[in-house]
Amino acid sequence: MIKSVNSQTISEAAEILKCGGLVGMPTETVYGLAANALDGQAVAKIFAAKGRPSFNPLIIHVPDLAAAENYVEVNDLARAAAHVFWPGPLTLILPRLRQGFGGQAQAGCTISELASAGLDTLAVRVPAHPVALDLLKACGLPLAAPSANKSGTLSPTSPAHVHESLGAAVDLILAAGACRVGLESTVLDLSGAQPEILRPGAVNAEELAEVLGVDVVYAQGDTDKPKSPGLLLKHYAPRLPVRLNAVDLEAGEALLAFGSDKFMGVKGGGAAKDLPEGWRMNLSENQDLDEAAANLFAMLKALDQSGARGIAVMAVPDAGIGRAINDRLKRAAAAQK
Ligand code: TXA
Ligand code: MG
Repeated sequence: MIKSVNSQTISEAAEILKCGGLVGMPTETVYGLAANALDGQAVAKIFAAKGRPSFNPLIIHVPDLAAAENYVEVNDLARAAAHVFWPGPLTLILPRLRQGFGGQAQAGCTISELASAGLDTLAVRVPAHPVALDLLKACGLPLAAPSANKSGTLSPTSPAHVHESLGAAVDLILAAGACRVGLESTVLDLSGAQPEILRPGAVNAEELAEVLGVDVVYAQGDTDKPKSPGLLLKHYAPRLPVRLNAVDLEAGEALLAFGSDKFMGVKGGGAAKDLPEGWRMNLSENQDLDEAAANLFAMLKALDQSGARGIAVMAVPDAGIGRAINDRLKRAAAAQK
């Protein structure tokens, strides 16, 4: 539903976000499809609504630099860029906050693993749109927001575009006219040795180099194409071998279940339910695909640390967001070293 912006509709949108729903959010670049970035199931709804065949990492929107520091390690270059270009059409890729790093960060980065597709880095940005900033403040949450359109179609620059593309999948679209920039933000990777622009946008390399006092290069290849994120985006792959569509377990394997694993046996004797502590996790006992998507990266990571010699994964239906889950599982299984 499209509603024009006023203090009441902003409060309504904030409530929807707090309850795990999706909001069409105006920004100065394009309209975003926003969800609570701390809530994996809410983030999973973004991928389902967009019909993304695989999980691309999303940009996390925050109201200011101080809020970004709760989630990423802000280095000197990032600080300099943020002071000049935030709020504005510049996204920074920075390391996710490690446990124990920084003042408040005892718990490490609390952003959903799904939002950053299991990567060690996170994309953050402060949008320069009064409505986006009001909404961020009203809900008090970091918001994951890709462009609010079906995967493979043009980014939306008006509320009507969002409605035409996503319809009822969005709980509320905040209408604030056409976007000023109309082109997605510049994505600048500051997590490596040299600053690299992964996606060109309104802020260019020369302006960035001037502010940062170092060279800024354009990355080779097009990282914004979902089919080629492997080019510059390293995708998360577990260390252990991953075996798909498991109906039973080999000795020494940990289990990533989907639905009931009550009758699952271990070859040579024993049952899944008797596996050692930490060797058995369930993406979703109720076979809820949104819940499974939200759990996927975190559970794979935990099982990878379990001490098992491999990870057996039960079949996940290939419907809806299940396609994206299976895409990531196939990559995890193929990436064996
Ligand atoms: O202007 C914008 O940036 C809009 C508005 C809504 O803010 N958002 C947007 O999000 O364009 P999205 O999800 O369509 O684009 C995110 C881009 C993709 O190219 C993605 O590959 C890259 O950011 N990205 C996100 N996290 C990354 C990471 N950890 N490492 C490298 N690239 C990342
Ligand atoms: Mg997009």
